Amino acid sequence: SWNMGSFAAGAIDQIQQSVKDKKVVMGLSGGVDSSVAALLIHKAIGKNLHCIFVDNGLLRKNEKENLEQSLTANLDMNILFVDERRRFLDALKDVTDPEKKRKIIGKLFIDVFEAEAAKIKDAEFLGQGTLYPDIIESKSAFGGPTSIIKSHHNVGGLPEKMNLKLIEPLQLLFKDEVRALGLELGLNEDLVWRQPFPGPGLAIRIMGAVSEERLSILKEADSILLEEIRGAGLYRELWQSFAVLLPVKSVGVMGDKRTYDSCIAIRAVTSKDAMTADWARLPHELLAKISSRIINEVDGVNRVVFDITSKPPGTIEWE
Ligand code: XMP
Repeated sequence: SWNMGSFAAGAIDQIQQSVKDKKVVMGLSGGVDSSVAALLIHKAIGKNLHCIFVDNGLLRKNEKENLEQSLTANLDMNILFVDERRRFLDALKDVTDPEKKRKIIGKLFIDVFEAEAAKIKDAEFLGQGTLYPDIIESKSAFGGPTSIIKSHHNVGGLPEKMNLKLIEPLQLLFKDEVRALGLELGLNEDLVWRQPFPGPGLAIRIMGAVSEERLSILKEADSILLEEIRGAGLYRELWQSFAVLLPVKSVGVMGDKRTYDSCIAIRAVTSKDAMTADWARLPHELLAKISSRIINEVDGVNRVVFDITSKPPGTIEWE
């Protein structure tokens, strides 16, 4: 749009004036905010932007590949992909408490990011995809759940500790404006319209301990669910839609054999801001298809249930 085009031009100009010929380091999460912010900074300073993507192994199926595709394919952006999947899995071994999972993942992310950023000589700035609502929330004493979340997930405290100055080119924008800006800058549509995804990733959608095997079950189930939701044209209407792996096994029958396997819960909600949410009235036919595909195609799953809890009293995530 015209609006976002002129916003981009102004923002690029400002970034050039403040950064000059110095370097900016920035963490990419795979989400729209950090991607759009990085693109904007890249347009302003090119190779002096050094992005770091920490692969914690907790993203959805193919997500890292898609990010790589959309940011490096035609843009030649400087992105370092750090494969730390093993380290995150090891750190999460046998951990079942949701807040412990969050702390472990947040801390390990900061450790890895700091170590990698320290290797980039003469970096003076830290780029961040902070939006206007993030600032409002973190300044308010009644900031609600997302402000607490941001504070312990999104590299809070990192710039002071590392002695970096912040560059936050999206800090006056709302989410819908960031999406428009992303499209304007040529960011791939899948990334621009991506539903919100929690920093701790799939770890908080696996009830109980995270293991390689359980991660792989959840990734497959979730990918089928999303494929069907997209196919039904509902992806953008839903605030979030995802699969949760439950810590129970139940009995089933497959052919003439008895099975004793895991259970997947389907979560789909509509919402404006995540503070409240309603469970989505997904068509029964769609639910039927998702259920039979997951059970037939994902080894180790023999039952699928649908979550009909709104927020409040429930939360969107299960952990
Ligand atoms: P809940 O489950 O509290 O989630 O209703 C509200 C919104 O926040 C997301 N969420 C998180 N995001 N780190 C994040 O970056 C987290 O630890 C976290 N926990 C929940 C959730 O996906 C929903 O959009």
